[in-house]
Amino acid sequence: MGGSCARRRPAGPRKVLFPFLLPLFYPALSEPIRYSIPEELAKGSVVGNLAKDLGLSVLDVSARKLRVSAEKLLFSVDPESGELLVKDRIDREQICKERRRCELQLEAVVENPLNIFHIVVVVEDINDHAPQFHKDEINLEISESVSPGMGTILECAKDPDISMNSLSKYQLSPNEYFSLVVKDNPDGGKYPELVLKKTLDRETQSTHHLVLTALDSGEPPRSGTTQIRILVVDANDNPPVFSQDVYRVSLPEDVPPGSSVLKVSATDQDEGFNAEITYSFLGVTDNAQHVFSLDPATGNIITHQPLDFEEVERYTMGVEAKDRGSLSTQCKVIIEVLDGNDNLPEIIITSLSDQILEDSRPGMVVALFKTRDRDSRENGEVTCNLSRDVPFKIHSSSNNYYKLVTDGALDREQTPEYNVTITATDRGKPPLSSSTTITLHVTDVNDNAPVFRQSAYLVHVPENNPPGASIAQVSASDPDLGPNGRVSYSIVASDLEPRALSSYVSVSAQSGVVFAQRAFDHEQLRAFELTLQARDQGSPALSANASLRVLVGDRNDNAPRVLYPALGPDGSALFDTVPRAAQPGYLVTKVVAVDADSGHNAWLSYHVLQASEPGLFSLGLRTGEVRTARALGDRDAARQRLLVAVRDGGQPPLSATATLLLVFADSLQEALPDLGDHPAPSEPQAELQFYLVVALALISVLFLLAVILAIALRLRRSSSPATGGCFGSVLCSKSGPEIPPNYSEGTLPYAYNLCVPGDQTNPEFHFLTSVDHCPATQDILNKDSSSVLLASILTPSIEADKKTFKQIGLQAPLFTNQGMGSCELQSPSLPRLNNTKSEMDTHRSS
Ligand SMILES: *[C@@H]1O[C@H](CO)[C@@H](O)[C@H](O)[C@H]1NC(C)=O
Ligand SMILES: *[C@@H]1O[C@H](CO)[C@@H](O)[C@H](O)[C@H]1NC(C)=O
Ligand SMILES: *[C@@H]1O[C@H](CO)[C@@H](O)[C@H](O)[C@H]1NC(C)=O
Repeated sequence: MGGSCARRRPAGPRKVLFPFLLPLFYPALSEPIRYSIPEELAKGSVVGNLAKDLGLSVLDVSARKLRVSAEKLLFSVDPESGELLVKDRIDREQICKERRRCELQLEAVVENPLNIFHIVVVVEDINDHAPQFHKDEINLEISESVSPGMGTILECAKDPDISMNSLSKYQLSPNEYFSLVVKDNPDGGKYPELVLKKTLDRETQSTHHLVLTALDSGEPPRSGTTQIRILVVDANDNPPVFSQDVYRVSLPEDVPPGSSVLKVSATDQDEGFNAEITYSFLGVTDNAQHVFSLDPATGNIITHQPLDFEEVERYTMGVEAKDRGSLSTQCKVIIEVLDGNDNLPEIIITSLSDQILEDSRPGMVVALFKTRDRDSRENGEVTCNLSRDVPFKIHSSSNNYYKLVTDGALDREQTPEYNVTITATDRGKPPLSSSTTITLHVTDVNDNAPVFRQSAYLVHVPENNPPGASIAQVSASDPDLGPNGRVSYSIVASDLEPRALSSYVSVSAQSGVVFAQRAFDHEQLRAFELTLQARDQGSPALSANASLRVLVGDRNDNAPRVLYPALGPDGSALFDTVPRAAQPGYLVTKVVAVDADSGHNAWLSYHVLQASEPGLFSLGLRTGEVRTARALGDRDAARQRLLVAVRDGGQPPLSATATLLLVFADSLQEALPDLGDHPAPSEPQAELQFYLVVALALISVLFLLAVILAIALRLRRSSSPATGGCFGSVLCSKSGPEIPPNYSEGTLPYAYNLCVPGDQTNPEFHFLTSVDHCPATQDILNKDSSSVLLASILTPSIEADKKTFKQIGLQAPLFTNQGMGSCELQSPSLPRLNNTKSEMDTHRSS
């Protein structure tokens, strides 16, 4: 710049010398005429009076043709006045450039005589140029990292004027960053230098505008300006800055993987390269790094995996933002996971006594359990429920611990086990629940006594049963378990003689089968009753009783036995007398027989087997009465013989025979010879006795008929047969079959209590003769055996039960002669009411 720069030379004070005093005509003046003018005079301006200076008159001017000449004719001479005038523009800067002295040489020429004069016009500088910069605008780039003090040389301004009018100083528009220092060029001149006063900051102000002014010292001074545009070049002096120090976000735990969580964002005030930011996790656990991913370019955080509140409630992660210039900053990202109801409540049985005694009191603890729900708050609040209709309930004991207790009576026999379902439900929305079923077993307690199928058993056993045969089976059940329900049977009581009991029956303890220990005899034992006990093996044992009534059924095992007629004591046959004049229908005698069986087996019928004079006598089929069928004829023998069979109704029937000896005579004496060698057995006393018996029998028949009538009337009125009164068994009659319905009881009435010889096969009736074998009855029979018999028959006891019979039996103990002489009391089982009608038997002793 140096050379181009204007040089200011010291310009001394210039004196314009007007050469007025120079001789006008001076043919060759050695000294030129000098004029001095400022540049840029207007055309026509007067430089000086040349004519006068040359000593010419005004007239000479035109006459002598005064004129000027030069290479370049900038002046002219006024022909009138001879003044030198400016003819053209005179620009010092053009003519003299940078020379300090600027003189124009010209000659003045006059003719007549020709004379030449030298003229020098000195052109003075005026301040007609302002300093000027080469360019209007200077563009600078300064890095913001530059430190103060750095200088930048600026372009010089130019001013073609010289000296004072030339450029003298620079000025910079005021600002805080820059100052201007003007320095001297080594080859003269000055140049401006821009000096940085203070560090620049692009981020505060990226461009600066300055105005540089160059000034000269003219009067008035002139100036020129140029714009300086300074662009501050970025340096990476700013780290990235996050928009927040801490980012917080809450996420429900069920967000699907790939969901956007949040976006961190940092800015860098630098620009370009220096502002390119990448994001990365910083100091993040592996776990979190697996769960979240961060987009390094955008700062977007997304989930990678499912979240689980129960595992991690909150993630705290550092995120670093780094620019390319490797400045970095960190921020924190806090991700709170919100709990969702995603865990089922659990039920944990901690203790369980699955065996519960059935007599447990309500409130007994059966199980302990707890609940757990990994969710929190409402999602983890659990309530428990039981399945309905179980005798248990839940007691909440403490925090999530529960007791399962009995709540009501248990009965193993009804429900041996319970499946109790416990349901746990949390309070989430929607609630979740789970359930557990536990099986509780109720254990047995001996709380049930055995129960017999029937409270009373009735069995019929035909007599003569084989000993050892089973006759009945009882059974009792006990719903308890094991020994508590194992039943054994025993006989605890009976109406048999205690000592004899075991010889009659036994019971199997296990099976309840009742065995007969001997053959029963209906004629001896019609029925008996046992009390059987069923007893379990619990502790204490429980028992129950049932009665077993055994009815011994009759079999036809006894043949009828003829009581009358009987052989005499000496073995001779007795006879009956018939008056010769007896009318037809005269009751001659009566065959009397008994049968120890009962019912049909004892229902006797009489048949004539053989008669010496058939047709003379008739025999009552049922009564055994022997009557005359016709009057005795002359041809008929006085002595008649009838062979009579007595048959019972059993299947097969058994029978016995008796021989009747009948003598037609008007008196006993008359009859006696007919008897031949038979000794007269009758005595007056016996005859008297016979009549008494007959009289008594007649009275009895009448009485009986009356009673039967009365009973029949009464029965007809009363619908209930039970209410009918009977006079003893023999008198009972019932409309209907002759065979009593009570036969089902197994006992047809045994109407008699008899003293019969033990030898049952002997049909003979040892009437009056063998009585000494039965001493107790001797006098009775002696006196009035028939009346005793009848008394027993006719005892007006309506309820002729055993007791009454016993009474009677005691009053009239009758013995059978068993074996030859021992007597046995007949089984005192007088039949009850409504028994079959028995025939009334009468007999008389001859
Ligand atoms: C559980 O028991 C409560 C109260 O006893 C009852 O309100 C509720 O309905 C029951 N919930 C279930 C699922 O049984
Ligand atoms: C209890 O559950 C078991 C097993 O599921 C089943 O065999 C049994 O019959 C159930 N008992 C009752 C009383 O429901
Ligand atoms: C059963 O009978 C026996 C004897 O009669 C008696 O001791 C016992 O108490 C009875 N038991 C019951 C349960 O009736």
